[in-house]
Amino acid sequence: MDLPHSIPSHSEKRIGLRFDLHYLEEKLMISPLKKLMFKYFEFRIFKRLLYSLNMNLSGKQILEGGCGAGYGIEVMSEYFQPSEYFAFDLNEGMVARSQAKVKSKGLPVNVFQGDITAIHLPAEKFDAVFIFTVLHHEKNWRVALSEINRVLKPNGLLLINEINNRSLNWFERYAKVYHPKSARFTWKTFRNELAKAGFSILREYLFLQDLGFFVGCKISTKNISDEN
Ligand SMILES: C[S@@+](CC[C@H](N)C(=O)[O-])C[C@H]1O[C@@H](n2cnc3c(N)ncnc32)[C@H](O)[C@@H]1O
Repeated sequence: MDLPHSIPSHSEKRIGLRFDLHYLEEKLMISPLKKLMFKYFEFRIFKRLLYSLNMNLSGKQILEGGCGAGYGIEVMSEYFQPSEYFAFDLNEGMVARSQAKVKSKGLPVNVFQGDITAIHLPAEKFDAVFIFTVLHHEKNWRVALSEINRVLKPNGLLLINEINNRSLNWFERYAKVYHPKSARFTWKTFRNELAKAGFSILREYLFLQDLGFFVGCKISTKNISDEN
């Protein structure tokens, strides 16, 4: 199928529930390097932030949105031993990879295909929601924040990391890896939108200014219609 002129042929593509990642990003997401990066860098930072808050998510009900190839599932199942672990991704191939991982390791994790802007799970179900570098793919990322807020229990935690507009612009210019322009934000905008979606930021860590790690706490319920 031809793409509209405005979409470069090597960008990621979203058509309804079908979502294809840029091929380079997909290669990285399924590589053993990503597993190492997740385990020894990204997750370590979140563990440190949780420790500094004296918070422990062991045995809790957790949700992971945009779980990719399932490296988060592997590492966090072992670390937290959650009482319930739900994980979803929009990309069919990533869902299949995560499901295969869960099956081969015998992990009690419910993995399904789903969209972060319309999470088909009950309100106030989870103690914590994990979102690792997903929002920069989603032009309706503000709606996604409200949806995450909806499925969290009062005082539940959002653990989220993202890359900001500066690095996404750099990737577009020099690596020709395109993401939706409307999903590029400064940290100032991101903090404001977290607050608007009903979160208070408990901890924040910026790595080289361009990769941000945030722990937010649900302080109120915000409807998507409250947004504007
Ligand atoms: C950069 S990858 C990160 C994957 C994983 N979180 C990790 O850290 O390895 C982004 C993931 O978000 C998924 N994704 C993008 N838009 C989504 C949406 N609207 N709902 C759910 N998942 C989405 C993509 O399919 C991809 O697997």
